Amino acid sequence: MKTLPDFDMVLFGGTGDLAMRKLLPALYQQVRAGTVPQGSRILAAARKPLSREAFLELAETTCRPFLGADYDADTWRAFAARISYFPMDVQAGASYGALGAALGLHPDRVRVFYYSTSPDFFATISDHLGAAGLITEASRVVVEKPLGHDLDSSREINDAVGRHFAERQIFRIDHYLGKEPVQNLLALRFGNVLFEPMWRREWVQDVQITVAEQLGVEGRGDFYEGTGALRDMLQNHLLQLLCIVAMEPPPSSDPDAVRDEKLKVLRSLKPFTPADVAARTVRGQYKAGAVAGAPVAGYVEEPGVAPGSRTETFVAVKAEIETWRWAGVPFFLRTGKRMPEKLAEIVINFRQVPHAIFGEATQGTRSNRLIIRMQPDESMRLHLVAKQPGDAMALHPVHLNLDFSESFRARRLEAYERLLMDAIRGRLTLFVRRDEQEAAWRWVEPILESWAASEDRPKAYTAGSWGPAASSALLSRDGLAWNEED
Ligand code: BG6
Repeated sequence: MKTLPDFDMVLFGGTGDLAMRKLLPALYQQVRAGTVPQGSRILAAARKPLSREAFLELAETTCRPFLGADYDADTWRAFAARISYFPMDVQAGASYGALGAALGLHPDRVRVFYYSTSPDFFATISDHLGAAGLITEASRVVVEKPLGHDLDSSREINDAVGRHFAERQIFRIDHYLGKEPVQNLLALRFGNVLFEPMWRREWVQDVQITVAEQLGVEGRGDFYEGTGALRDMLQNHLLQLLCIVAMEPPPSSDPDAVRDEKLKVLRSLKPFTPADVAARTVRGQYKAGAVAGAPVAGYVEEPGVAPGSRTETFVAVKAEIETWRWAGVPFFLRTGKRMPEKLAEIVINFRQVPHAIFGEATQGTRSNRLIIRMQPDESMRLHLVAKQPGDAMALHPVHLNLDFSESFRARRLEAYERLLMDAIRGRLTLFVRRDEQEAAWRWVEPILESWAASEDRPKAYTAGSWGPAASSALLSRDGLAWNEED
């Protein structure tokens, strides 16, 4: 793997969940892979009044389970040697002095500010960094979702960050874009001629995107109450996946070439009228049940959740793209907490053969499907029909594994690892541009407004099930069903 340029990375929210579970482990892996130059530094900043030693101890114990067999004490020491810790109140201008002194004057050195804090602080942090003169030409900022809770608030945050950073310096992260199978889908679509002619309404019957989690809100009830599944997952991750599936071939892999095409998809999504919201969306909330054999509480019993909460923990939507390529092809999106499995997949269901010549021999087979799995395993499979060996003309479902990564020895990168490296290298292709993000908010806003205005509650579903019955009905009205097989 190629060495990264010399960099300083400032992690705001350095003791937080994301830093400990994803960001520090990703940086550790890069140190282990030998790509991090000797002089590069990680400057963790957070409110906790810890010494450097205490922070490193906390980081080691917390990160270790996420490193598994890749942890070893020597590499950890080499990694830790690059880390310093700044206890600071990000809202107080005075606390940026120590950070500034540590960063020093290095106008050409890559400087990455990672805002892994609540978005409420993004404007303040940017203002203070600007006032302290810490933003150089070679600086970039990585911002975590949720960026706002609607179009207006996302604009405010973008304006505030944009006062100090140019758009080319702003890396809006959507970690789903960093997942290996998503990259592979791009390779499959635009590195082969085979699929492109079929990638359209004439041959595709419907597309299904599912991101299901077994987890509940994991003690984040306070945060989740004001968010819900539509804002937390669908507005960003699922819509980005939809864009990758539906976009036109970009003229190149340049960031703006790719992002222009994704933007066109978002702008072609059929808007929701209030009547559409009732007909084309389903919201659910889990009640007590069992996941993987263990009993779990209902959403309203979670700490931090209001007893009569109307926050959705499940959402399913029928999206339509108003273009020549996709007119009439439904894109079904669903995501939920406390589902039976952790499953993230994109399913492209192709149409039936136009004329069946094999009669009974085809019984038990289905039309072709392409399944791109991100969870629990990473894979890409094409389901076909083939003849069973033997005398009789009996057809059988078979699948082709299109994911050749097993043929390569290279270690698979975690999404955050890839994206952090891209941010350090200044590659914007896998990051979301402002206009994309705003187009996504514009599309989901009528749903949020209709739900807020409605007296209806989210439909209850038992924890450990696939969501409310209305979710299946959303497809059965078109004579379809959610994919259930491998
Ligand atoms: C985050 C959401 O963006 O994605 C979380 O805020 C969710 O609620 C997580 O659990 C899921 O990510 P992954 O990669 O584990 O599917």
